[in-house]
Amino acid sequence: MLSREQVQAALRPVAEPITKQSLVELGWIRDIMVKEERISLTVVSANQDESSKAEIEVNVRNLLTAAGANNIHIRFREASDHEKNELGLTSPQPEQEQPFRGRGEGLESVALLDPASQVSFIAVASGKGGVGKSTVTVNLAAALARAGKRVGLIDADIYGFSVPDMMGIEEIPVVIDGLIKPVERFGVKVMSMGFFIQENSPVIWRGPMLGKMLRQFLGDVNWGDLDYLLLDLPPGTGDIALDIHQMLPQSKEIIVTTPHATAAFVAARAGAMAVQTNHEILGVVENMAYYESAGGERDYVFGRGGGPRLAETLHTELLAQIPLGAPDNHLSEADYSPSIYKDNSNAGQMYNAMAQQIIDKCEQKG
Ligand SMILES: Nc1ncnc2c1ncn2[C@@H]1O[C@H](COP(=O)(O)OP(=O)(O)O)[C@@H](O)[C@H]1O
Ligand SMILES: [Mg+2]
Repeated sequence: MLSREQVQAALRPVAEPITKQSLVELGWIRDIMVKEERISLTVVSANQDESSKAEIEVNVRNLLTAAGANNIHIRFREASDHEKNELGLTSPQPEQEQPFRGRGEGLESVALLDPASQVSFIAVASGKGGVGKSTVTVNLAAALARAGKRVGLIDADIYGFSVPDMMGIEEIPVVIDGLIKPVERFGVKVMSMGFFIQENSPVIWRGPMLGKMLRQFLGDVNWGDLDYLLLDLPPGTGDIALDIHQMLPQSKEIIVTTPHATAAFVAARAGAMAVQTNHEILGVVENMAYYESAGGERDYVFGRGGGPRLAETLHTELLAQIPLGAPDNHLSEADYSPSIYKDNSNAGQMYNAMAQQIIDKCEQKG
């Protein structure tokens, strides 16, 4: 009996008739079921022309028969407009030439974005890089998961993706029936461009690709039911951050800053962007707030007051002031991660408290 993977491998050569891309690689061979001796599957087809479907059918049968199958059942389903778009079939111009703009363009069919789905989107933003935006995102995600929430995390910092490394993730996602299965770590389902980039090579692409990536991360990933989906945004207020704001009008926002006055001033721009695009700001996190010596004395190495002042400027609250200090990583090998603070550590407890504030804000009824 063939496994699903063997069926996929055998069918790899079958090409989509118009673009000649592999149907398996497109994820257009779906619902593969192998039961006793019977193999059934669905072929998504952009071309409803009978002769083109017959050609695919013959091809699929021949390849599966050659691989040892004899009871084969093939269904066809017409590609949705969204899928045709993905293939570039209905686009008037090549994809590279189409800037990704506008609210939720192409995202209508994404289940997670349906208001009925009840997912709280939280984007984590900062004025500049290096302030600990990713550190805050991964730890807040882990703390929400510890609180029993179903949590997803999209590493949307496409040029500076770092979430997999920070969480100590070594595996990469697998594709099952055309959907990407996110990698789960510390109870958080994670998607990152980092999973798809070889050997830390630089990522060079423009706005349209980001739209495509986010669409894929939202639509082609099997997130299952989620309570929270956190997004680690690129730093600053550039096009990419703006695109995400426009794509996810319902997302709420957390702004991360260091206590330094200049950092807070720059972070205020990220906050202003959230306000202008009508995104509710859940609060400010002041990271690297101080260094606490073994004797309990606090040294305000990066200055003082930036977080509270920023919260005031943005008419929101200060959610936490996280001190300097790397996580204690002498954990078991299975739990190794450079950036996740343990549940019972000082910082871990602060993240737990922050998660509780977020839950209270997002889940208050009425
Ligand atoms: N509270 C902290 N104490 C010590 N180091 C920190 C703290 N927060 C972040 N870092 C470190 O600072 C660097 C930048 O943090 P990162 O989360 O990658 O920032 P960003 O995503 O804003 O660029 C990383 O090396 C991270 O481990
Ligand atoms: Mg980062």
